[in-house]
Amino acid sequence: MAGMWRNVVVFCLVAATALPSSLLVAAAQATNTTATTPIPVVGVKTGIEVNTGKRPARQNINKLYARGGPQWDLYILALSALQAVDEADELSYFQIAGIHGLPYSAWNGVGQVQGAPFIGYCPHGELLFSTWHRPYVVLFEQTLVSHALEIAGQYPPNVAPTYLAAAQTLRQPFWDWASDPRLPDAVTTANTTVNGPTGKLTLRNPLYSYRFQRPAVEASFGGPLTRYPETIRCIGQGGNNATESDHLLGSVAGGLVSMVYDVFTRTKTFEAMAYANRNWSSFESPHNMIHVYSSCDGTLGHIDWSAFDPLFMLHHCNIDRLVAMWQAIHYKDAMFNTTGVSTGEFGTPPGTHITADSPLKPFFDGNLNLHTSKSVADIRVFGYTYPELDEDEPTTPDGLADHVRAQVNSLYGSDTQGAKHLSAPAQPKPPAGGKDDYPPPPPPACYYTAEISLDRAQIPLPVTVNLIVHGGLVLGHMSILALPCEGTASASLPLREALLGGNLSLPDMTPATVIPFLEQNLEVQISTSDGTDIPILTAPSLQLAVQDIGFVPRTNDSTFPRFGDTTRFWAMPVRQYDGC
Ligand SMILES: *[C@@H]1O[C@H](CO)[C@@H](O)[C@H](O)[C@H]1NC(C)=O
Ligand SMILES: *[C@@H]1O[C@H](CO)[C@@H](O)[C@H](O)[C@H]1NC(C)=O
Ligand SMILES: *[C@@H]1O[C@H](CO)[C@@H](O)[C@H](O)[C@H]1NC(C)=O
Ligand SMILES: *[C@@H]1O[C@H](CO)[C@@H](O)[C@H](O)[C@H]1NC(C)=O
Ligand SMILES: *[C@@H]1O[C@H](CO)[C@@H](O)[C@H](O)[C@H]1NC(C)=O
Ligand SMILES: *[C@@H]1O[C@H](CO)[C@@H](O)[C@H](O)[C@H]1NC(C)=O
Ligand SMILES: *[C@@H]1O[C@H](CO)[C@@H](O)[C@H](O)[C@H]1NC(C)=O
Repeated sequence: MAGMWRNVVVFCLVAATALPSSLLVAAAQATNTTATTPIPVVGVKTGIEVNTGKRPARQNINKLYARGGPQWDLYILALSALQAVDEADELSYFQIAGIHGLPYSAWNGVGQVQGAPFIGYCPHGELLFSTWHRPYVVLFEQTLVSHALEIAGQYPPNVAPTYLAAAQTLRQPFWDWASDPRLPDAVTTANTTVNGPTGKLTLRNPLYSYRFQRPAVEASFGGPLTRYPETIRCIGQGGNNATESDHLLGSVAGGLVSMVYDVFTRTKTFEAMAYANRNWSSFESPHNMIHVYSSCDGTLGHIDWSAFDPLFMLHHCNIDRLVAMWQAIHYKDAMFNTTGVSTGEFGTPPGTHITADSPLKPFFDGNLNLHTSKSVADIRVFGYTYPELDEDEPTTPDGLADHVRAQVNSLYGSDTQGAKHLSAPAQPKPPAGGKDDYPPPPPPACYYTAEISLDRAQIPLPVTVNLIVHGGLVLGHMSILALPCEGTASASLPLREALLGGNLSLPDMTPATVIPFLEQNLEVQISTSDGTDIPILTAPSLQLAVQDIGFVPRTNDSTFPRFGDTTRFWAMPVRQYDGC
């Protein structure tokens, strides 16, 4: 099966090529502790207020770290304990991470199906991307908190109740990289000190890396990462080099925040938001950039290995948070009802028809049915919330949507899209049907996006495609991960902020100015994660267009900019960037 797959696609699945049969036996043995009953993914049930049903919020890692105290102690100790669980155990850090990519083995009794490619379970670049990762983070969270509860019980009686309460309300933290693109301080030191049950304790920092228990076995996974006994970031810069990660993340910070804001404000349907998709911006696009830029050429950037880096769950918890916030705003369209086609994963053959009722393998619900996008649509069933979704104040869905829009504006909105420094035009009068029936807004301002697409099979992945003007100003980035490794990769990248912030001396932002400027100046660079450039001639499928959309900036802090329904596409020449 694997051999057949290999013959089809040139650059695909390098790791699979190198995987020896001895490892497959080892991996199979490792999963042979499979319980007869599947492990259900139900979330954490502790810490929920009895009277109100109020669920604890997953916290920003930087805030949780800054606050310190029992919850931080327990988070670190629980993560450390989880990483110490025997890799043969299905609820070990190793095996939970192993669901995503390598070692391509059955988990929770859900095996590889006939015709399925030899990769992990995770769907990328397809409809199930955002819903699949939701129960995945929940599984990790419920396992983590089970360790925290156990550890809390070991503290001396005078502090045990405090620690127990802290464990009960502990949830998986998130890394909000669009607000602060630097690596969280907590993940950058090799050792860390906490208050353990028997006093102050310095231990290997479980957020810094995961150290493989069987380096000899894990080394046979194949590929350039096998030389390292632990997960690693920025290999070329000395390994786990936070300075270099921060440098790279800083270079794309503007792109990250404008992409996130663009998804919130411009994407109208769940299926468009849910995965990197033609002519729509989705959270998967900035998600890809974090995989590539925070690790340079390291573990997180290689999709087969990425889930082993402790940054993975912090990153995916944040993606889940962005999706949950989007759902609260678009509560009438909180789940897709369209269909798609799978590119194929460990438990799903390529070509499978995908709907919101398709199984999210290998995750079972409390009734031991496989979860589906519908069963994970509402985060309330999993016993957590997010700080931005605090439902104390708003009592109606519209009230909550306003509240979340205000949070999005304050976290990710820029002045140029808001009312702060612009005199916004008068709102059209609402027709009788109510505010949803406004006529399309007049186009007093123009919004621009770059529409990029290319055939993945033409280039060695992962890569980043940069759109550059004036010999160095990057207007947009599209990172493409190694999976799926065939089919069309596409993204819709917001350009307005970069055009305005770039000191380009454009006399105005009208299409008559901006489109000719881009036609004459836009250049394309395709870079691998180790910084090598690939000539654009390698990818003749690469297409580039610029879209202009009329829009009205937001008028106050709880509204979003309004976009016109009519847009125009301008084909752009694909020109090689050749340095400054
Ligand atoms: C491992 O699992 C396979 C397939 O489920 C089973 O046939 C075999 O007996 C198991 N081996 C052990 C040692 O449990
Ligand atoms: C981390 O702690 C270990 C002992 O627990 C020590 O050997 C090592 O030098 C420390 N590493 C750093 C970078 O401080
Ligand atoms: C880490 O990366 C920075 C560049 O961001 C570099 O100056 C420094 O030498 C690197 N450190 C090591 C140990 O290689
Ligand atoms: C998507 O964008 C391309 C240009 O890149 C355009 O030709 C096509 O019509 C667009 N599709 C839709 C559905 O808007
Ligand atoms: C799908 O969802 C959209 C948005 O909520 C809705 O307008 C449409 O009627 C739905 N279609 C079907 C077939 O349910
Ligand atoms: C913008 O460009 C002008 C003239 O080209 C220059 O004087 C100024 O320093 C630039 N500002 C920034 C922030 O680069
Ligand atoms: C913001 O603007 C909307 C639409 O114009 C309006 O309904 C809402 O009351 C305003 N909110 C505030 C806080 O001014």
